[in-house]
Amino acid sequence: MTGRLTGRTALVTGAATGIGESVARRFAAEGARVVFADRDGERAETAAHDAAASAGDGAARSITMDITDEESVGRAFADLAADGWAPDVVVANAGIQLFGQDAPAADLDLDVWRRTIDTNLTGTFLTVKHAIRSMLDHEGGSLILTGSPTGLTGEGAEFTAYSSSKAGIHGLARTAAAAYADRGIRVNTVVPGYTETGLVTAISDDPEARAGIVGRIPLGRAGTPADVEGIMVFLASDDAAFATGSLFAVDGGMTAL
Ligand SMILES: NC(=O)c1ccc[n+]([C@@H]2O[C@H](COP(=O)([O-])OP(=O)(O)OC[C@H]3O[C@@H](n4cnc5c(N)ncnc54)[C@H](O)[C@@H]3O)[C@@H](O)[C@H]2O)c1
Repeated sequence: MTGRLTGRTALVTGAATGIGESVARRFAAEGARVVFADRDGERAETAAHDAAASAGDGAARSITMDITDEESVGRAFADLAADGWAPDVVVANAGIQLFGQDAPAADLDLDVWRRTIDTNLTGTFLTVKHAIRSMLDHEGGSLILTGSPTGLTGEGAEFTAYSSSKAGIHGLARTAAAAYADRGIRVNTVVPGYTETGLVTAISDDPEARAGIVGRIPLGRAGTPADVEGIMVFLASDDAAFATGSLFAVDGGMTAL
């Protein structure tokens, strides 16, 4: 590793598993102090412990944080600031996808729509809101939101709520980037393509569905959480000092079609 994030403090939501865990571990390996934030505090603690075991004592800690609960999000940022761990890099990554319930609009239950929007869009908004407040109190920073190809194209036609929540995240990143650029805060979106994690077992465990989606990826394979790490390190680092309000796809070319 290169130590590109030495001196940085980062917080990653959804860091108990999947893409968030992989990115948080890589940040620690690149020299950052990293907060593994998740509603599943126990798994986040295990992940942070494992990261500290390889990156060194003091490289990682965990915090239980439910992004749908403003009190929980606000308290997490306040506690970290009080402890000298105010993050200058925040990855708003936690999300859900309700396979088997999300549906084309005419068939979609309002409750499924609300639960998806509540976590993915409102939860990301609350993370952004409190991250920016914390960064304004310190010296600016880099915010990275996790979007999706389904927020850009009609790829997720059967996932109305999920796709709409991700399109909202792309808009949230642009407005926050424009609003806070002059205060030293950069906001960008990373768009992972189909990435095999616990989120998408409904696809990865179904050979026909998996072949269908991999067949639409020009690079010819599914993504892994590790594929998303490099762009996150770039956006968290000073190499991305002139990048804000942009969207960076790591999708094997899927959205190029
Ligand atoms: N896997 C993919 O193919 C894919 C593709 C594009 C975008 N994404 C996005 O990437 C992000 C991470 O997904 P993943 O594939 O790693 O999924 P994952 O299910 O492996 O991890 C998601 C994490 O978010 C946490 N989480 C869920 N709701 C939360 C809440 N209210 N508060 C705090 N934490 C919460 C979960 O506990 C879990 O640890 C999500 O935003 C997802 O939409 C994933």
